[in-house]
Amino acid sequence: MTVTIEPIKPHIGGIVRVDKAHLLDDLVVQACKDALEQRGVLVFPQIHLTNAEQLAFTDKFGQRVKFTGTVPGGENASDEDDELYKITLDKEFNAEPEYVLGTWFWHIDGVTIDQPLPKATLLSARKLSPSGGQTEFASTLAAWDQLPEAEKAAIADLMVVHRMEASMRPMYIEMPDERLNRYRTMSTVMLHPLVWTQSSGRKSLVLGTHADEVVGKSLPEGRSLLARLTEWCAQKEFTYSHEWQDGDFVIWNNCGVMHRVVPYDEDCGRMMHRTTIMGAERLGVPWAAPQKHVQLA
Ligand SMILES: [Fe+2]
Repeated sequence: MTVTIEPIKPHIGGIVRVDKAHLLDDLVVQACKDALEQRGVLVFPQIHLTNAEQLAFTDKFGQRVKFTGTVPGGENASDEDDELYKITLDKEFNAEPEYVLGTWFWHIDGVTIDQPLPKATLLSARKLSPSGGQTEFASTLAAWDQLPEAEKAAIADLMVVHRMEASMRPMYIEMPDERLNRYRTMSTVMLHPLVWTQSSGRKSLVLGTHADEVVGKSLPEGRSLLARLTEWCAQKEFTYSHEWQDGDFVIWNNCGVMHRVVPYDEDCGRMMHRTTIMGAERLGVPWAAPQKHVQLA
């Protein structure tokens, strides 16, 4: 058998065993695509992909989105690696560390960009942190499936406003105006359904620190609901924590899981190389705040 994929937990995770020489075989790529839909996260233990090999696999898997240069912290990248986004707090590569620090909180990639939601994120470990640094994944598909029916009915039609600045709030006591303006100019405030019915017919919860406001509810009521649903998703039953080993390669279904990183020493030089696959489905639309009714004299 060229490839085998073993479940990690009942609701999430798969270990892919494949000879690297066969990684680009049609059969292997299709098996990984199918498994990604079912398992949410796929781990290729210590496969030690080069940048070129990661790019080749990414291109075989789908349409690559080049985030480098448009994603904060990626502007300093150069050379062949230009095609891969470096996730690191190393100041040589990242002049705006708060975006990477933001990954320490639950999120979905690309939610505050007005484009189809990225389908998959692919990550290679290049330099590990001595402690911490595990990437945690929560299945928002399984979390929806297992919600009690009454709760499903109560939230089924809710819409949520997502703001990049919301995901940056953990970094500040008071957010400087200059930073706030930067976040607002580089992102789009988006209106997304809380429960996303995907073209496959499956439903997932759309949550993360960028989820800022539930339309039609007061801020505290809406934020409390978002916090409670996030806690629901983060239960052990729906989550997998990946303990990185040198050379590991991990793919996740960005439309079916949210993720975060366990904090690590900010000076340790931890380095991950990321590529991203374009999605086919648009999740929501830019948010237009309701205009106040003006009484004409
Ligand atoms: Fe991320």
